[in-house]
Amino acid sequence: MLGAAWLLISLPLVAARTDCPGEIPVLGLGSQEMSNAYWNVPGELAGHVDVVNGSVVAYMKGRTYFSSECHAGSFNNSLYSAINFLGKRLRWTTDLSTAGCGCNAALYLTSLQQNTEISGCDDYYCDANSVCGVRCAEIDLQEANMYAWHSTLHVEDDGSGIGAGYGGGGSNWNGPREWTKEQYGPNGNCISTTRPFQVNIGFPVDDAGQLVAMTVELSQIAGTERCALSTEVRTADYTFSGRSSTEITAELTRAFEAGMAPIISYWSSDQMLWMDGTGADGLGPCWQDDASACGESVSFYDFVLEPLDFTTLYP
Ligand SMILES: *[C@@H]1O[C@H](CO)[C@@H](O)[C@H](O)[C@H]1NC(C)=O
Ligand SMILES: *[C@@H]1O[C@H](CO)[C@@H](O)[C@H](O)[C@H]1NC(C)=O
Repeated sequence: MLGAAWLLISLPLVAARTDCPGEIPVLGLGSQEMSNAYWNVPGELAGHVDVVNGSVVAYMKGRTYFSSECHAGSFNNSLYSAINFLGKRLRWTTDLSTAGCGCNAALYLTSLQQNTEISGCDDYYCDANSVCGVRCAEIDLQEANMYAWHSTLHVEDDGSGIGAGYGGGGSNWNGPREWTKEQYGPNGNCISTTRPFQVNIGFPVDDAGQLVAMTVELSQIAGTERCALSTEVRTADYTFSGRSSTEITAELTRAFEAGMAPIISYWSSDQMLWMDGTGADGLGPCWQDDASACGESVSFYDFVLEPLDFTTLYP
């Protein structure tokens, strides 16, 4: 009996828990190794994440961590990337053209390297919703499907956070409405999500080096025209659980200064209406979510990290 229990408990330590699909180039930073999660949530195996010709291709339930090194079969928090994004912007291209209502193609940052507590997913994963049992600050650069887009700041104990973008809500509340379903969606008149589009997320700071905002710009070229949708989430608007915006800003700034790891995941739920539902105003995009209809994968590629004051020529 004792022997069997010991075997069950010790198996995760010897079995292969991390799989290493390869490295991707990030201009301005250098190549990044992907370290795939073994468990999606405790007890449920994660899906695969592949690297194909420098693109990250995430299959359903896949989650991968940007890392300096990946060692198949072991995990080590000090090998997860710790990138300071303050005063910088990260750009990439995303293709979520088969991710409909109820699917979530996500790229976010959490304090993975600083987390020394092994999670219920048998690695050092942490996030603001404690999905694997360990909490930490989370910056959602992209949580999106063909119909909805959210960019959200979360201090470690705030599962809801403060966000911007388009879509979602419930019977008595509305998600962000910075854009409309005419502007962003399949055949949208600015961002047509049936085609890949470009994402540009910036983190401007004030004179004291404190995070001012997360700026968001989605863009796409159609013919000779470039169309862009912009918004931002300002830390001055973020208060939580009795803490002032100054305190919240300082907490977020500390997490950024310590360095955060980009994470890519693809998941689905029939309860994703917080992100893509019609909301109380009826202006959101999805009446119903259908996780079973999600396409098999989403992709992320052409990553660039650059200073905010650097002039970028598009495309
Ligand atoms: C691989 O990526 C390069 C650079 O983005 C591109 O030019 C090339 O066509 C891609 N090859 C394939 C097989 O997709
Ligand atoms: C984790 O990685 C660091 C950095 O390479 C190394 O110094 C440390 O020994 C590793 N820890 C384990 C348990 O392998």
